[in-house]
Amino acid sequence: MKVLFVCLGNICRSPLAEGIMKHKLKMLGLDSKVMVDSCGTSNYHIGDLPDSRTRQNAKRNGVSLDHRGRQLSMDDLNHFDFILAMDRSNHDNILGLRNDKAVRDKIMLMRKFDTEEGEEVPDPYYGGEDDFQEVFNILNRSIDGFIIHLQSKGLI
Ligand code: 4NP
Repeated sequence: MKVLFVCLGNICRSPLAEGIMKHKLKMLGLDSKVMVDSCGTSNYHIGDLPDSRTRQNAKRNGVSLDHRGRQLSMDDLNHFDFILAMDRSNHDNILGLRNDKAVRDKIMLMRKFDTEEGEEVPDPYYGGEDDFQEVFNILNRSIDGFIIHLQSKGLI
């Protein structure tokens, strides 16, 4: 099973989602069953470490991040089984690259799996510490929901 998290810059939301997912899979002994990666729709931060505020927030929450920024490629649309977009704009930009049934079947909004109300994982880039923690909380719940989904479908 291969899972790709996608945001705009690939330095705040999606690398944190990748780190949380890897951490949870490891705790569950399921890390060998799922390949997890992240990327951005933009080319703004190729090769960059996650934002220092994201790294700090992840560390405070017991999650380590080692991802380097990269841009979404057309190959990714074939390679991955699940493509989880952080917001509607990321979602629509991906479909703008290729909009066929194969892609529509594997792309979804991350918060489809959240247990609390809300459609998007908000971009924290221009926010403060509380905004980064809110992103962590949303991703933490949503990824729990996503792992339960994979288990309930017998995919892991
Ligand atoms: P992300 O946040 O999409 O969650 O990584 C952003 C990071 C950088 C920029 C925008 C959003 N930027 O405009 O550089």
